[in-house]
Amino acid sequence: MNFFLIFKTITIIQKPKTMKKLEDLFEHQLKDLYSAEDQLTKALPKMVENAKDSKLKKAFEDHLEETKGHKQRLEDICSELDIDPSGETCKAMEGLIKEAESFLDEDTSDDVKNAGMIAEAQRVEHYEISAYGTAVRFAKELGHNNIADKLQQTLDEEYSADQKLDNLAEGRLNEKAKA
Ligand SMILES: [Fe+2]
Repeated sequence: MNFFLIFKTITIIQKPKTMKKLEDLFEHQLKDLYSAEDQLTKALPKMVENAKDSKLKKAFEDHLEETKGHKQRLEDICSELDIDPSGETCKAMEGLIKEAESFLDEDTSDDVKNAGMIAEAQRVEHYEISAYGTAVRFAKELGHNNIADKLQQTLDEEYSADQKLDNLAEGRLNEKAKA
């Protein structure tokens, strides 16, 4: 392949997609969410491994199972809409995971580790809550009511995961970290 052909191929690969309709943006958001959930299924085992409290460990384990379900739900939605869920990388989730991983490398006491991991996980949850909130609204506006219900189910689970982390932080772990 000569230089011109290589340049042309790169240009074609990097050409941004045209999004003219809300449906296109919705599709883009679903793919982005799929990438986010996929990255999380790979990152959460590390959180499980590093949690220094049995309840926190269990919360991460449960959310890992839920996250696998969220990924599957997005696959089902995409197949209903006849779109390929892969092909996007959620850069925000990439950054949030990087930040959480670099926190795990810090030299901390066990209690501070737990409190910090909750903080990192809640950043992730809040990002997902915001993204699913938008996706539910778009699905409704586009008349995909059945899909909106499925996305709402995930949104509810993200809210309850966030609440569980709140309870762990407020109930015990932050107090311990103060000592
Ligand atoms: Fe999720």
